[in-house]
Amino acid sequence: MQLTSKVALVTGGSGDIGGAIARVLGEQGAHVVVSYVSALEAAQQTQADIVAAGGSASCQQLDQRDPEAIEVVIESIESTHGRLDIVVNNAAWNIGIPFPDLQALTPDIWDRVLETNLRAPFLLARAAAPLLKADGGGHIVNISSAGGISPGSSSIAYSSSKAGLNHLTRCLAVAMAPEVAVNCVAPGLVEETRMAKRLPDAMAEGARRQAVLGRVGQAQDIAAQVLTFVTSTSISGQTMVVDGGMPGAMR
Ligand SMILES: NC(=O)c1ccc[n+]([C@@H]2O[C@H](COP(=O)([O-])OP(=O)(O)OC[C@H]3O[C@@H](n4cnc5c(N)ncnc54)[C@H](OP(=O)(O)O)[C@@H]3O)[C@@H](O)[C@H]2O)c1
Repeated sequence: MQLTSKVALVTGGSGDIGGAIARVLGEQGAHVVVSYVSALEAAQQTQADIVAAGGSASCQQLDQRDPEAIEVVIESIESTHGRLDIVVNNAAWNIGIPFPDLQALTPDIWDRVLETNLRAPFLLARAAAPLLKADGGGHIVNISSAGGISPGSSSIAYSSSKAGLNHLTRCLAVAMAPEVAVNCVAPGLVEETRMAKRLPDAMAEGARRQAVLGRVGQAQDIAAQVLTFVTSTSISGQTMVVDGGMPGAMR
């Protein structure tokens, strides 16, 4: 077990990928705080799976669009556990709006996407910084998207929020060094997730076909990359794409 006595916060641990990340960190001995907005039962299932596997976890309601709620959650982790070693900024919100439909992307939708997917990871890092720095070995892992690297995905707002998160990763890696390593995982299509199931079959099949490995990622692949980052002491400021390999390659 590589994370014994560590405490980790996984935002959106009620979701498909967040749940997988929380379970892997729990398997490695961390106490995992699983955050959710409304899906309490899904968060409790993640918690139950971790406990059933011999680990330790708790659930925490958090709407990360609310800056005060972020402060309250970090204070509660400090008062309950006295430490916080790992923050995984996994939670995100999206809505499908075709790129050419500029009028449909209203200021309200833009703000909701950016507040959830970009401002909140910054505010979580800001609030958690003293705890993450306390013993000199803290980690933040942001979960962005391949859509933050090339202009595609559910909407322009989502793609832009994830591009911002990729760069926030590099900025925070500078700002929080040397005590905290900050890295990012950028998934392409992830099989068996709600997001993937909403895609038209032809689009999902195209993603699988274009990947040089002939497959895209699973939630467990994202979780494995998160574990690699949080058990490393020599990587910071990096974004690792997990998408089955170079879908845009000319072959
Ligand atoms: N699935 C894919 O194919 C794919 C591809 C590329 C990138 N990603 C990224 O991977 C991450 C996880 O995606 P997923 O597929 O697991 O999504 P998901 O199953 O829809 O889960 C999203 C999570 O975010 C939480 N959330 C939404 N709005 C929030 C808010 N305002 N405050 C706090 N939490 C909020 C949700 O909480 P509730 O459930 O309680 O509402 C849920 O736990 C996201 O960052 C996503 O952008 C996914």
